[in-house]
Amino acid sequence: MSIRNLDDLLAEGVSGRRVLVRADLNVPLDKQTGEITDDGRIRAVLPTLGALVQAGAKVVVCSHLGRPKGAPDPQYSLRPVAGRLGELLDAPVHFATDTVGESARATVDALADGQVALLENLRFNKGETSKDDTERGAFADQLAAFGEAYVDDAFGAVHRKHASVHDVPARLPHVAGRLVLREVEVLSRLTGEPERPYVVVLGGSKVSDKLAVIEALLPKVDRLLIGGGMCFTFLKAQGHEVGTSLLEEEMVETCGNLLSRAEGKILLPVDVVAADAFAPDAAHDTVPADGIPSHRLGLDIGPETVAGFTAALSQAKTVFWNGPMGVFEMPAFANGTRGVAEAITKTDAFTVVGGGDSAAAVRALGLDESSFGHISTGGGASLEYLEGKTLPGIAALEN
Ligand code: 3PG
Ligand code: MG
Repeated sequence: MSIRNLDDLLAEGVSGRRVLVRADLNVPLDKQTGEITDDGRIRAVLPTLGALVQAGAKVVVCSHLGRPKGAPDPQYSLRPVAGRLGELLDAPVHFATDTVGESARATVDALADGQVALLENLRFNKGETSKDDTERGAFADQLAAFGEAYVDDAFGAVHRKHASVHDVPARLPHVAGRLVLREVEVLSRLTGEPERPYVVVLGGSKVSDKLAVIEALLPKVDRLLIGGGMCFTFLKAQGHEVGTSLLEEEMVETCGNLLSRAEGKILLPVDVVAADAFAPDAAHDTVPADGIPSHRLGLDIGPETVAGFTAALSQAKTVFWNGPMGVFEMPAFANGTRGVAEAITKTDAFTVVGGGDSAAAVRALGLDESSFGHISTGGGASLEYLEGKTLPGIAALEN
């Protein structure tokens, strides 16, 4: 791979130079209190930021948070992230209340060597996500003015053709940060010649989101274990009734085709936890996957399924997992996700957890992060990487 990385930039010397870092600080916030509920993505960029601080750079960090619509929206402010980043760096983080305006200019100008600034949410500006090259380019010009070099450490956003990811690197000397480098190294092990058996576990709610990756993975994997909300569309394709479970009717035929092409590689749940309602205290029972009552909906995979998935995982030499097996945020429906996660930690395989939700599940369930080989910070990005797609942010670094 012909991508320069942070060490190349550090070797040139960055003391006193302004370095613009694109990070993915898109962390989940508590809807009521606005507090950060999982700071994994902030911690993931510390190696890059720490190295730049240590080397005496003036570090200008930018990121998106959530999906504001191209204008300031206080609920998506990065201010709380600046606070948490400062705690983790053990140094003040100077927060700019706009992205490329007065406050940003003044904040960047005032930086001393080894200090860090965080700009307000990139997506408060229409240019960041614009489909129009000129509009995106104009915003990229403004951002690029804050740096003499650019570091992309926003792995979670490399699949987006956005100004800060795709257009800024065309305007500045650019390198991959430590996180992006590590993510690409790990994921390329999966797309290359993974040690076999290679077992993939997919969950999450929608088949339509995962279709492309299933298509790309089927020829590569030895086993594909499917749980989560999307399993019901597969169960329906097998001819089972799924009650009021999540169902993508228009995907049933596609799922049927996948199953018939899969040569037995796809494992589906044999039992599910079916509930009266989508609620933490809903009445629920474990039922066979072909016996879901018509008035109930499946909210988790059952224990027999966990046992079967565990058996498949115990043989594996390479594992990739994306997407929860059930509604793990509700304790009554967390056993499937916990069981599969624990099975993954117990293998001696090289294990990779892909994505925002599954990574958050690992931490929310209190599992030991270090017992996984790698926990990716990118959900969509890691899936698109495995699909073999060209990722705009990675391609921009290659040029
Ligand atoms: C993510 O959370 O998946 C990344 O931060 C990208 O965010 P996006 O899906 O809103 O582009
Ligand atoms: Mg996303």
